[in-house]
Amino acid sequence: MDLTQSANTPVARRALYPGSFDPVTNGHLDIIVRAARLYEQVYVAVFVNPSKPGLFTMDERMEMLAEVTDELPNVAVSSFKGLTVDFCRQHEVGVIVKGVRAVSDFDYEQQMAQMNYGLAGVETLFMPTNPLYSFLSSSLVKDVAKWGGDIDEHVPGPVATRLVARLRDA
Ligand code: PNS
Repeated sequence: MDLTQSANTPVARRALYPGSFDPVTNGHLDIIVRAARLYEQVYVAVFVNPSKPGLFTMDERMEMLAEVTDELPNVAVSSFKGLTVDFCRQHEVGVIVKGVRAVSDFDYEQQMAQMNYGLAGVETLFMPTNPLYSFLSSSLVKDVAKWGGDIDEHVPGPVATRLVARLRDA
């Protein structure tokens, strides 16, 4: 076992928060803000998932993320097609941050964390979601908005505006 690799290597000071972000919710934003306090640089990357076409385009998701993280100087928004570990290699990122809402999230998240560690030695930090947002997901928000429910407490203002407009035009 190699004990010489310090947790404070440059690689460990950069983190990746990957996801679909279709669209970004207040739950995501809470994790981004907390991760930005822990790491020198946080990459928030929208991952292409061919089996999930989604409501917003990749560019729209990135625009919304950029808008709502504008005040966080150490957060960079991008998109990526491929494996999370390949993004990590390209950007010298040592840690993937994941929000965990409930035990039901944990099983699959743990499998991905173990796979990513095995593939590239990239660690995963599981961050418990703020209980205010433990029930929140992009899918639920889209469903509530689709049927005219109030989403103002669940997504940042600019996202609510775009969601209502998109669903009205649909
Ligand atoms: O917001 P989501 O949809 O829960 O995000 C899922 C995401 C993008 C984090 C996951 O699908 C992912 O990591 N995709 C990249 C492809 C990859 O690396 N797959 C192997 C994971 S072990």
